[in-house]
Amino acid sequence: MRIGILGGTGPAGSGLAARLASIGYDAVIGSRSKYRAMEAVDSLVERFPTLSDKLHFGDNVAAADCDIVVIATPWDSAATTAQEHESALRGKIVVSMANALVRVGHEFQPLVPPRGSVAAHVQAAVPGCRVVAAFHHLPAKELGNLGEPIDSDVLICGDDADAVERISAIVSDIPGCRPLDAGELSNATAIEAFTAVLLQLNVRYKARVAPKLTGIKRDPRAKTPPPETAPQPADAADKVADDKAVATSDPSPASA
Ligand SMILES: NC(=O)c1ccc[n+]([C@@H]2O[C@H](COP(=O)([O-])OP(=O)(O)OC[C@H]3O[C@@H](n4cnc5c(N)ncnc54)[C@H](OP(=O)(O)O)[C@@H]3O)[C@@H](O)[C@H]2O)c1
Repeated sequence: MRIGILGGTGPAGSGLAARLASIGYDAVIGSRSKYRAMEAVDSLVERFPTLSDKLHFGDNVAAADCDIVVIATPWDSAATTAQEHESALRGKIVVSMANALVRVGHEFQPLVPPRGSVAAHVQAAVPGCRVVAAFHHLPAKELGNLGEPIDSDVLICGDDADAVERISAIVSDIPGCRPLDAGELSNATAIEAFTAVLLQLNVRYKARVAPKLTGIKRDPRAKTPPPETAPQPADAADKVADDKAVATSDPSPASA
């Protein structure tokens, strides 16, 4: 399978391309200039010679021609870049990894893009494609550091269940990454904005944090629990409690 990356010459796109190539996908680094893409691939192949068969370069047209397409441009050019390639993207899974953020001094602040998230803006720009929001919280450096697992959950959301499942399958191939289905594309607002929190924590604690959520007992990739892990009485009680909590916390117009 070929995965194309629009704006793949930046740190995030290049790191993701290297990671995808390392787990067996053909990754096409796209760019507005295919020469920049060639330089990006050359420098990756210099670092990782074994990836030479799997890493390819081209312009953004070549990247948009792939089976799955990732948009790795700055947030404010993601929707316009998608729109430029609308006919090639129609019907395809398009992954938005862009975060709308601004740095003010030492503070990272989330911005609210049109439609509430970059991913939703991309979906509105190319209604015929199936946008999935993913990879927002994986730092470029860790993506490109192929000697190490990434050790992070990857929150994934989208309105097309099949598209979310297919991106989850790819994420689960990345060593250390656990894909989590975080719901519909409207949740991209929170996922993208949360990146500002993670970057703030990096600054505050001189660290490189990654999200790992607790409390999910079953493998999120399994659609139905296998018979030997059927819900135990304690789990069933948890579920009843959960259902009650949902019923009482639902902010219906009457109680809002
Ligand atoms: N950096 C990270 O750690 C990280 C992690 C997760 C998610 N992200 C998100 O991933 C995206 C890419 O991050 P990055 O740090 O790699 O960004 P970047 O270096 O600023 O930009 C990536 C590429 O986008 C292209 N580009 C720049 N301006 C453009 C424009 N006006 N129109 C079309 N293409 C343009 C450029 O490629 P060409 O000039 O070759 O076309 C550039 O190399 C961002 O939206 C970011 O929020 C970043």
